[in-house]
Amino acid sequence: MRVKVFAPGRVNLIGEHTDYNDGFVLPLATEMGIIMEAALRGDSLIRARALDMGEETSLSLADLAPGGGRNWWDYPAGVCWAFLEEGCRIRGADITFGGDIPIGSGLSSSAALEVATAAALNYLNNLQLDPVKLALLCQKAENKYVGVQSGIMDQFASVLSRSGKGLFIDCRSLEYEHVFLDLPGQELALIDSRVKRSLAGSEYNRRREECMEALALLNKYLGETRLSLRDITGEEVEAARPGMPAILYRRARFVVEENRRVLEAVKAFQKGDLRKAGQLMNASHEGLRDLYQVSCPELDLLAETAWAAPGVWGARMTGAGFGGCVIALVEKESLPALKKRILEKTAGVLAKQPHFYHTRPAGGVRLLDQADL
Ligand code: GLA
Repeated sequence: MRVKVFAPGRVNLIGEHTDYNDGFVLPLATEMGIIMEAALRGDSLIRARALDMGEETSLSLADLAPGGGRNWWDYPAGVCWAFLEEGCRIRGADITFGGDIPIGSGLSSSAALEVATAAALNYLNNLQLDPVKLALLCQKAENKYVGVQSGIMDQFASVLSRSGKGLFIDCRSLEYEHVFLDLPGQELALIDSRVKRSLAGSEYNRRREECMEALALLNKYLGETRLSLRDITGEEVEAARPGMPAILYRRARFVVEENRRVLEAVKAFQKGDLRKAGQLMNASHEGLRDLYQVSCPELDLLAETAWAAPGVWGARMTGAGFGGCVIALVEKESLPALKKRILEKTAGVLAKQPHFYHTRPAGGVRLLDQADL
């Protein structure tokens, strides 16, 4: 049997670093994605070929072990490992993939690779796993096999998004709602700083730890056992502030505020109130810059330049941070002027000229073709 699947990248509209705090997020799938062809083999080898890199590798299903590294093949291998850990019976396969998601730009090329692999395995081995399960297995691959303690947002968005919609996710219950985002006359512009997220792995895990430390202090102060920062209010953070190290106070305050912003943004988009939605995006960026401290000068310059440009409702860094892209919600007719302004303001200031992409909210992973061999 042979299948061809497409798995999209994702861009997050708002709700950053909230997913692993049991909070709320509003991402959408990009039109950019990964196409993977996969065919069952008669043995237990996974032969993977990355067309864009011109590289190929073979792995035995029997030898998969977590902690290998962060090579491209660790993502498909990690997904195979997660399936086996879950007790799924999978056979070897030849997989070949390529795509157009810029790597290291915060648009979840790795989640797309995981999701494409998971969907291909699901079809090839007739496992009939439901979409939420697929996303969770991909997250397990990333957490346990690759070793990045990511939340569920990226994989969930790559699996469950719908065309023309944002995906509002409650990352505790995993309940989700498709939020209408077909915005006539508007564009979602992605401005790539082309700063690679080199710090993201270690700093990312560090932020997670800081959130746990902040929660422990808040629980001590409250004399309670709240499960995550999602269960804490802004007033409680302020009340506990004197007993908290400044860094932990900032982290907790950001998460609490960002969760509230997501809920407000969902309402704003539902009402078509782009002014409000844009303000929330800007405030999210400020919080990521000042409180959560995962932005960088290049992203700040891009966001600030966009804020000052006509026709821009809002702009913020998107994804884990330390590089990657800014997303701007902008009137279609103002997009050329925004691009021009960004290029002018960054020329000679940034090491690399920013790249521009734009996307409409796209659908989640899908089967393109299937054949019995
Ligand atoms: C990365 C992770 C996600 C999420 C974002 C930050 O993309 O994979 O789970 O935590 O960072 O919002």
